Amino acid sequence: MSPKSAFIVFEGIDGSGTSTQAERLASRLREKGRAVHLTREPSDGPIGVLIRQALRRRLVVPTADGGRSPRMETMALLFAADRMDHLECEIEPRLERGEIVLCDRYLYSSLAYQSATGEDGEASIPWLLELNRYARTPDLVLLFDVPPAEAGRRRALRGSDEEIFEVDALQERIARAYSALPERLRDIPFERIDASATLEAVEVAILAALEARGIR
Ligand code: TYD
Repeated sequence: MSPKSAFIVFEGIDGSGTSTQAERLASRLREKGRAVHLTREPSDGPIGVLIRQALRRRLVVPTADGGRSPRMETMALLFAADRMDHLECEIEPRLERGEIVLCDRYLYSSLAYQSATGEDGEASIPWLLELNRYARTPDLVLLFDVPPAEAGRRRALRGSDEEIFEVDALQERIARAYSALPERLRDIPFERIDASATLEAVEVAILAALEARGIR
């Protein structure tokens, strides 16, 4: 019997360590002989590239109030379009071949980031869910829990250019939005991971979460 495919998503505030752990998990699974595809959102497809330019303020979307950051609604639509393209062109074909797909950020980033940056706050979640209605449900969503101050320290150490969402007060709102998701979306397989622990301890927790769901 060919190995079972699995779609595993990594979520958390900026600096929570999802990219590092996604890479580590990819290596562990490959060592066991699994075919693994590691990807991310915004994706590396055409819409994802456009979004990254907006995040780094290379692409400036003028707003009615003279601001330079795109509106939440504009970003939500771009992220949703990128997601459908990413699923169709990259994720689903791999899953059909029995691969494990690891995705650094997905729909739950849209729910947390866009609800935390829009005027309607949490009330925008039904609209965000509707926009993403046809986006496949993952087999596992690893929700990285880390105090926003600690994530801020990690971002400062990383030292790359600050993106539009990387502002401390905003990160606290995003962390709260993330932590409300498992209660709200009870049929989504969330697993909270204490991401303030050491790299090794976080990795062990992730491997245990996969094992508990029969992903090996
Ligand atoms: P990030 O994942 O931190 O990538 P990089 O390592 O290249 O900086 O950047 C993506 C940013 O986009 C991050 O701040 C979260 C945000 N985002 C959303 O607001 N909504 C979404 O749906 C997704 C996928 C990302």
